[in-house]
Amino acid sequence: MTTVLVTGGAGFIGSHLSDRLLAEGYRVIAVDDLSTGRIANLADARGYGKAYTFFNMDARAEGLGSLFERHRPEVVFHLAAQSGVRPSLADPAADASVNVMGSLNVLERASQAGVRKVVYAASGGTIYGEPRRLPAKESTAQASFPLSPYGISKKVVVDYLGFYQRYRGLDFTALSLGNVYGPRQDPQGEAGVVSIFISQMLEGSSPTIFGDGNQTRDYVFIDDTVHAFVQAMDRGSGKLVNVGTGLETSVNHLYRLIAEMTGFRG
Ligand SMILES: NC(=O)c1ccc[n+]([C@@H]2O[C@H](COP(=O)([O-])OP(=O)(O)OC[C@H]3O[C@@H](n4cnc5c(N)ncnc54)[C@H](O)[C@@H]3O)[C@@H](O)[C@H]2O)c1
Repeated sequence: MTTVLVTGGAGFIGSHLSDRLLAEGYRVIAVDDLSTGRIANLADARGYGKAYTFFNMDARAEGLGSLFERHRPEVVFHLAAQSGVRPSLADPAADASVNVMGSLNVLERASQAGVRKVVYAASGGTIYGEPRRLPAKESTAQASFPLSPYGISKKVVVDYLGFYQRYRGLDFTALSLGNVYGPRQDPQGEAGVVSIFISQMLEGSSPTIFGDGNQTRDYVFIDDTVHAFVQAMDRGSGKLVNVGTGLETSVNHLYRLIAEMTGFRG
């Protein structure tokens, strides 16, 4: 049975990814400090018994080294992160501590333990800054300036991945995710508007649209996102790859779509 490690395994995306990997027959080791992740997200994974092990551990911890030595994962999915733009604006150093130093700890331990590949959760919504053209291409990253410390930390880890591949022989694929939505998502997160609109419209209350509602994002469903992570185990070596629909969806359009689906009449 092949062992894989998922950091951020109690989070929105990491927990769905763990479920999918277990369903495909992998043994999954999940690491999470539960800062935003939730034990409730592990319920399905725990149903797989011994194939699933959860460690309540900080990605920056020294103990990560012995965990790698003991379990010898073949592939590491690195999703553990301070995952919000707003907290990073308030405290850039705290963001960098988790997102940069935590990532370096994971990469260092992974390369020492002979891990074959790291699949990393980068962020399409933030690493490209304000691209002149949409959808942003992967090459935009070379000439872009992220607008937030979160975008900067997410971007710099892609550069570190390049270093580890070249000098330590650790393969990688970085997935630049659009705004991911689906069950278990945090309503405060980047695609929170989807879950907020759905729950409010189902309750019969009218959601507030901030601004003129013309602001657009690339919203991508959790199952498609998870599929991209699984595909990246054997594809996209040494690449930054966008994961999204390639389509701009405005908040107003989203409002109309969800109103139609929920039968909401505002
Ligand atoms: N959700 C999105 O739309 C989106 C978009 C682009 C990128 N991403 C990235 O994808 C990854 C997963 O995002 P998510 O939406 O599932 O967010 P999430 O907050 O649900 O998941 C992140 C997980 O990391 C854990 N974590 C935080 N700090 C940690 C630390 N120091 N040590 C160990 N674990 C720690 C949290 O407890 C949480 O479970 C993140 O790296 C995020 O930056 C998400």
